[in-house]
Formats: sequence, structure tokens, C-alpha cells
Amino acid sequence: MWKVRNADIRDIGDLLLIEEAQFPEPWSRRMLREELENGATRRYTVVEEAGRVVGVLGLMFIEDDVHINTIATARDMERRGIGRALLDDGLVAAIQRGSTRMTLEVAVGNEAARAFYAQYGFAPLGIRKQYYQKTGEDALVLVRDLHSL
Ligand SMILES: CC(C)(COP(=O)(O)OP(=O)(O)OC[C@H]1O[C@@H](n2cnc3c(N)ncnc32)[C@H](O)[C@@H]1OP(=O)(O)O)[C@@H](O)C(=O)NCCC(=O)NCCS
Repeated sequence: MWKVRNADIRDIGDLLLIEEAQFPEPWSRRMLREELENGATRRYTVVEEAGRVVGVLGLMFIEDDVHINTIATARDMERRGIGRALLDDGLVAAIQRGSTRMTLEVAVGNEAARAFYAQYGFAPLGIRKQYYQKTGEDALVLVRDLHSL
């Protein structure tokens, strides 16, 4: 059985494996470390199962907004509710912190993630053209008002 907990610097090895398996432009060890060490504006949580980190959610707080910097589940653990557990936990934390809107970018062709966010009532805010450098793909900016939660 897995559990959600705060991320720790010792999780970086597992986080790199998830990043590399799930993103065309994975974050480096250094970027991950900087994110985890930036506790003032970031909130990183992971799902751990049997000593292995199998999911991650990274939030960034900017004034009244909270932005999803990253969310990913290990490939062999998808569709088991891990993403939902992480986002549910993050939404509660963001509301407690006073955030009024959650935003994110998602690649237009990322159907799994778009289906995931649609479930939560995220709506399109705009397009960032060629946002992803490696693939040249556009990003869709999605937003969810948190007042109604
Ligand atoms: C998007 C992602 C985080 C979802 O994580 P997950 O742990 O598999 O999600 P869950 O099991 O909690 O799924 C919750 C719901 O999202 C939707 N969903 C998730 N993956 C889906 C898929 N491949 N196709 C269609 N719907 C999907 C479903 O409605 C699902 O509910 P259900 O399984 O009861 O039908 C995961 O697919 C992932 O890591 N993708 C690669 C990284 C990525 O693209 N991150 C987002 C960047 S913006």
C-alpha cells in the first residue's frame, strides 16, 4: 500500500527515474535539488510504495496562484489513483495556504494528462506556442478556480 508524504532530498534518485521515463525534457538532478530546496515557494510531495517513490507533485506558490510545476506517476504504476491522491492532497494544501487559482501547462498532445485534468474541472486559459523546446510542441495553459472547492 502506498502513502503520500513530503518529498525529501534523498528521493532525488527515484524522481530522476520517473522524470526520465515520463518527460521528453526531464529535469536534471540539479534542477530537482533546487526545486526541493526552495521550500519558501515550493511544495513537493511524493507517493511512496515499499520504499520506492512512484509519484511526485511539485507546486509553486506565486502570490494568490499555485502552479503545478510537475506531476508524474512511475510508468508501471499509472491508473491506480496515485496522480489523484497527489493532486487531492495538493489542492487541500493550496486552499489552506490561501491560493485562489491553480494553473499549469500541458502539452497539447498529452491526452492522458488532459483527461486527468479535465476530471478536476481545469479549463483552458490560453496557448503557449512552441513551449517545449525539444519537441516544439505547444502548451495549453489550464486554470482551476479554487474558490468553489
Ligand atoms: C497524468 C498522470 C500524472 C496521471 O497519473 P495517474 O497516477 O496515472 O492518474 P490516476 O490513476 O490518479 O488517474 C486519475 C484519472 O485521470 C484520468 N486518466 C489518467 N490517465 C489517463 C489516460 N492514460 N487516459 C485517459 N484518462 C486518464 C482518468 O480519468 C483516471 O481515472 P480512472 O483511472 O478511474 O479512469 C500520469 O499519466 C503521468 O505521469 N503522465 C506522464 C507525465 C505527465 O504528462 N504529467 C503531466 C504534465 S502536465
